[in-house]
Amino acid sequence: MLQVEKQRTRKFELVTTEYLEEHLYRALERRRMPDYVPFLDDGAVHNWLALNHSARFHLAGSLTAFLEQSLPYLAEHFVPELNLVSFGAGDGRKERILLRSLLRIGSPSYYSIDISSPMIDATLNAIADIPVEKTALLAFFEDLPIINRLWCHPALLCLLGNSISTYGVEPSLATVRAGLEPPDLFLFDCRLLTQDAGQLEDAMASPENVRFQTAPLVKRGLEPDAVEFIIRVVAAPTPAGPVRRVDQSVRLVRHAVVTFDHGSVSLYPGDEVVLASTCQYTLDQVRHFIDRSPLAIVEQHVAPARDNAIFMLRTPRRKTNLL
Ligand SMILES: C[S@@+](CC[C@H](N)C(=O)[O-])C[C@H]1O[C@@H](n2cnc3c(N)ncnc32)[C@H](O)[C@@H]1O
Repeated sequence: MLQVEKQRTRKFELVTTEYLEEHLYRALERRRMPDYVPFLDDGAVHNWLALNHSARFHLAGSLTAFLEQSLPYLAEHFVPELNLVSFGAGDGRKERILLRSLLRIGSPSYYSIDISSPMIDATLNAIADIPVEKTALLAFFEDLPIINRLWCHPALLCLLGNSISTYGVEPSLATVRAGLEPPDLFLFDCRLLTQDAGQLEDAMASPENVRFQTAPLVKRGLEPDAVEFIIRVVAAPTPAGPVRRVDQSVRLVRHAVVTFDHGSVSLYPGDEVVLASTCQYTLDQVRHFIDRSPLAIVEQHVAPARDNAIFMLRTPRRKTNLL
């Protein structure tokens, strides 16, 4: 377990920049760009915040306000020993809300887990005045089952900002199940599929999103007008029925070369590079995946407009035989 002095901030890199660069290079050879890549570069924070706070996206404000509204229900399950672990750094507003609430009853430590160093720094800056010890780990969410020894339990593990819709509800719950200790709680929020489902496509077609998604390729030599941005909406089959998946890609309209430290990748007219996808689930589908998982619902809150939901889960209690 990491030992940190009270209120100090420490940062540990469990994944190197070189590894991530090599990973992108190999992926691009296969015409794919892993969905976390747009968050890695120095400009990522600026591009992400511009997107996340843009009028067309409006995810940030909506889910942050929803967390605040849900807090009275969630806080009933907080215990004085609870620490906060958040996966996926952002503007720090949700962390502020949770840490302030935990500070009222205890003295939590905070752990920020993210694969992007600039994004982690932005979150740590945003909560610099909150008097808790802070540990940042540059690591993949998917490594949760092997990195969960690095923080003190019990912990409130958070996957907020609709990240679960990008990772997928079912794989996320499997990862969490493998890494959640019995006293821990898992909190995730989710933007639900509503009648107004066109909003996400509209946000994805926005210049802010196109700039954010293509920035890693542009930084490495792609000229923005050498590609056209494509959005496809598909019905993806799942055990909970078809979910709406929005796929993003860029198609080359002329030859381009993307250059890395160890080599370069040539892209030809007609080539399509697959970018991040995100799914939109109905409330019933999210509940279906929770019911199929061994995790149990401690608290759930659905917005009156049924466009946002938040769930707090725990590992199942052992059955006691009373006979
Ligand atoms: C949607 S943003 C931030 C969400 C933030 N929690 C909020 O509420 O605003 C997603 C964050 O997750 C990080 N991320 C994406 N994929 C990741 C992965 N597989 N492992 C760890 N971090 C990842 C990105 O670097 C980025 O900081």
